[in-house]
Amino acid sequence: MNKALRKAVIAGNWKMNKTRPEAKALVEELKPLVKDAGCDVVVCVPFTNLETVLDAAKGSNIKVGAQNCHFEKSGAFTGEISADMLTEMGVEYVVIGHSERRQYFGETDATVNKRTKAALAAGLTVILCVGEMLEDREAGITDELVALQTKVALKDVTKEQLAKVIIAYEPVWAIGTGKTATAQQANEVCAVIRATIEKVYDKAAADAMTIQYGGSMNAGNAAELLAQPDVDGGLIGGASLKAPDFSVIVDAASK
Ligand code: 13P
Repeated sequence: MNKALRKAVIAGNWKMNKTRPEAKALVEELKPLVKDAGCDVVVCVPFTNLETVLDAAKGSNIKVGAQNCHFEKSGAFTGEISADMLTEMGVEYVVIGHSERRQYFGETDATVNKRTKAALAAGLTVILCVGEMLEDREAGITDELVALQTKVALKDVTKEQLAKVIIAYEPVWAIGTGKTATAQQANEVCAVIRATIEKVYDKAAADAMTIQYGGSMNAGNAAELLAQPDVDGGLIGGASLKAPDFSVIVDAASK
């Protein structure tokens, strides 16, 4: 299948940024800038902003996501949020397995798999993050590591469910560092992920899979990254906090 037939998705990951008034202002500024987007536009916001952003985005083409969810439906899990709590609000997307959660909050491939399955069971679209650390790249194990992360995260996920999975390749060394992977590096690993999907599922599933690049993607470098044959979109941190910058990336993906 041709890349042009896959859904391009540009998602902002606001991380731990924006109060409710700031969140509302950012979405209001973004709405007119992305209203004619030729790709899907998602903003993944802090839990405390979900209601505000859902309300502000109502009637627009901006879709709303959270940045994590727990794998149990309910219970004694202080500080956690379930997938059902998100869908009940109207949230459609959730980021799972972001490297910051892996690095700072003990997230493992096994818990990423559990969260992914819970989110899919609740009907959410999962933005599943994988990516190597600098030492992995220097040791020459990027491809094996990212393939393994992908396989474990998707263990027991059915081919039907896969239609609601987006994979984000985010090299950890490129996140928030201003050090972007080259377009070739990004494309190479996205192709490895696609080959992994083909191995585990089949060619049709691999051809249909939206694979994003994330890591210091910005208004200046987005077009080159997004032009790569296996890069179908972006997961954007810093540059998603400024509406004009984010909209330039959306425009680049719309071509
Ligand atoms: P930056 O775009 O700030 O590097 O963050 C990327 C990221 O982690 C998106 O999830």
